[in-house]
Order: sequence, then structure tokens, then C-alpha cells
Amino acid sequence: MHAIIDCDSRSSGAEREYKFTIQDFERVKKLIYNRAGISLSPSKQNMVYSRLAKRLRANGYSSFKHYLDSLESPDSHEWEAFTNALTTNLTSFFREQHHFPILERHAEQRRNAGKIHLWCSASSTGEEPYSMAISMAQAFNTLTPPVHILATDLDTHVLAKAKAGIYSIEKLEKLPKEKLRKFFLKGKGIHAGYAMVRPELRNMVTFRQLNLLDNGWPVRGPFDAIFCRNVMIYFDKQTQYKILQKFAPLLAPNGLLFAGHSESFQHAADLFKLREKTVYELAKK
Ligand SMILES: C[S@@+](CC[C@H](N)C(=O)[O-])C[C@H]1O[C@@H](n2cnc3c(N)ncnc32)[C@H](O)[C@@H]1O
Repeated sequence: MHAIIDCDSRSSGAEREYKFTIQDFERVKKLIYNRAGISLSPSKQNMVYSRLAKRLRANGYSSFKHYLDSLESPDSHEWEAFTNALTTNLTSFFREQHHFPILERHAEQRRNAGKIHLWCSASSTGEEPYSMAISMAQAFNTLTPPVHILATDLDTHVLAKAKAGIYSIEKLEKLPKEKLRKFFLKGKGIHAGYAMVRPELRNMVTFRQLNLLDNGWPVRGPFDAIFCRNVMIYFDKQTQYKILQKFAPLLAPNGLLFAGHSESFQHAADLFKLREKTVYELAKK
């Protein structure tokens, strides 16, 4: 029989509200891998504990075993909250800044080729697709460029925040004043301290839930560019390859695929080739 070992019996384990065993962690690991493709390393045990402990508390469970049993029961309504709890949503406006001038130039080259279609495939709380929208407004010198941006994410919680397009001024502090003035509306009264993305830019973006792991994405290409940044790092190489296989036919022949700073698609050289730092194009056009 396996010993039941508390994941962190040396330190915070003793103070923990719920017992969290290696077996509980392994079970969570398998469930989130099957659900979202997310591979949790052993170093994520404390993170998993603190995020799911909130779900136990909210639902009144006394142990991880009861919570996970209920999650796996046929009438479970907890899958969405479980998944939302385990995603990591860190993002910011113009993160990995060097991509945005590349996107602008790419769009300018397509200026006369009809509407431009972009896909932001892990949009989190919206900063990334709105940065794309701002870049497009700059490229075309109008708040209503001929551009549509599909923005998708697995996490329904972040999607709701993204749709609202409201951010605390602190989150926008790094943006040049000029951009703030042109592309945001500052809140007043009870909305002081917040700013809203201008409605014209919000209209450019459609938010939808999409699990990159699913077969048969409800998405119609071709896209002139796909942003898939800082999400592949949570997937193993095999899962990454399957996703890249589905991106390839959705990208226009001269389209660009943008990856995160620590992501490389070298293992899919038959599908995508590196064009410049973390920007890929189709291997076969
Ligand atoms: C770290 S954020 C990156 C956000 C943004 N792309 C950026 O680079 O700033 C990763 C996002 O991927 C989403 N995600 C995780 N697994 C996913 C999946 N299987 N399908 C779609 N989105 C997923 C998470 O919900 C999260 O919002």
C-alpha cells in the first residue's frame, strides 16, 4: 500500500486547513491535463493547494478527496470553476513589445487585401487582444480599421473581465500618456481609478470560450496572424504539436504565428519555420 504523504509536511503542511496528499496532487494533475492539456510540475503543489482550497471552502467540502470525488461525479457542475482556478492568467498591455510593430507592418502590407482577420488564442483578461486592436488602429490611423480580432480563452472568468474592457489605472501606468488618451476612456465618480477601452476598439474584438485541446474548434480561417503566446509553455510537446497541426490550415499563406518569449516550435519544423525572434510562418505555403 502507498503511504499517504502530505505534499508539504515539512513546512506549511502543518498549518494547512485541509490535508493535501501526493495522491490528491497526482489526481488533480491528471484531471487538469485531460481537461486543459496543462502539465503541472511537482513545484506547483503549493499553488494547486491554495487555489483549490478556495473551492473546497466555497463548496463546504472537508477534504480534497470529497471535493475531487464530487468533481468527477456525473452531475458535477464544478468543472468550469476547477479549470478556472488552475489556469495562470498573467498578462499585460503590449507584453513582449517587439511583436506589435511587426504586426503593424504585416497589416499595412495587407492594406488593400480586404478585411484583416486576427486570432488571439489565449487572450486572458483582454490586454493582449486590445493591444492588437490598438496596433491596428495605429496602422490604419483610425479607431475603426478594417480588422476583426477573435479572442479566445479556456477560462470563462478571465473572458468576462476581458469583455468588460475595464482596467485599473495602475495596470495602464506603463502605457504612454498619448495611448491612454487616444484609446481609453477615464472613469469618473464611482469609476475613478479605472479606464475603459474605447468602444470602437472593443467592437473590433469578439471574445469566445475555446479550449485549445478540443478537436473541431468552432473557428473559421484564414487568419492573417495568430497570437498563441505564453500558453504553450503549460502543454507538453505532444500537445503543442497537435495544436500547431490545427493552426497550420487556419493561417493564411503569408500569415504569421506569434509565440511567447520562452516558447519554441522547433519540434514542429514541418509545420512552421522561424521568421524572426518568436515569430513563425508556415513551413509550406
Ligand atoms: C499566462 S496567460 C497568457 C496570456 C497572453 N497570451 C499573454 O501572453 O499575455 C495563459 C492563458 O492561457 C489560457 N489557457 C490555458 N489552457 C488553455 C487551453 N487549453 N485552451 C485555451 N486557453 C488556455 C489561460 O486561461 C490563460 O488565460
